Amino acid sequence: MDGDYTMKSKALVVMAAVAAMITGTAVAAETFRNTITGDDLKVPESSNPEGRDTAAVKHFLESGVNLYTEVKACLPKGEEVYLTSCSGCHGHVGEGKVGPGLADNYWTYPKNKTDKGLFETIYGGAQGMMGPHSDLTLDELLKLMAWIRHIYSGDVADADWLTEEQKKTFKPYKPEEHASADGSAKAADGDECKVSAN
Ligand code: HEC
Repeated sequence: MDGDYTMKSKALVVMAAVAAMITGTAVAAETFRNTITGDDLKVPESSNPEGRDTAAVKHFLESGVNLYTEVKACLPKGEEVYLTSCSGCHGHVGEGKVGPGLADNYWTYPKNKTDKGLFETIYGGAQGMMGPHSDLTLDELLKLMAWIRHIYSGDVADADWLTEEQKKTFKPYKPEEHASADGSAKAADGDECKVSAN
């Protein structure tokens, strides 16, 4: 009897340790695939080793959902990345240039309406000049995606990436309203870019 009990409790300790290992490291429950070829992008192993262990990244790898969406204090970093890496081809506010518009409700690849799909297109690239952007850290990519969602100027009803709660307060971005200052995202003083995962 006693021996049986010890065995069982040992098994429980091992199980708890395995669970801690699983939750403590970034494990992708989702398989992320190249938008054109469908090949496994091998995320997170193929990603920039930095910025893999934030709460938002862990949550995204497990669920495909970006917790940074509409978290105001996280937007300035996303805007910075966008202006450095994307606006040259997609326009200052996603209005489109050599690359297609990113702020309207038309998507060449409809899956870009989901966080997971948008990530896959940015991370793995698409056709022609749309190269892969896997050099950015996973955390930067999520902030960048939040910024792209923020500059969305189309109908809220088509914004599948917003939760029902977010849809109630989301206002389509109007570039002219942001043109007076320097047009950049401003977080209120003291705001921190934080998410509550789970
Ligand atoms: C050198 C120019 C260039 C750069 C830089 C660039 N893109 Fe693109 N992007 C394109 C082109 C061209 C396409 C169209 C490719 C296609 O249809 O397969 C595209 C397509 C896309 C799409 C798919 C849009 C749709 O309608 O489905 C997304 C999303 C996107 N780019 C995001 C980004 C982001 C985010 C960045 C910055 C990290 C970026 N791009 C940088 C040229 C560029």
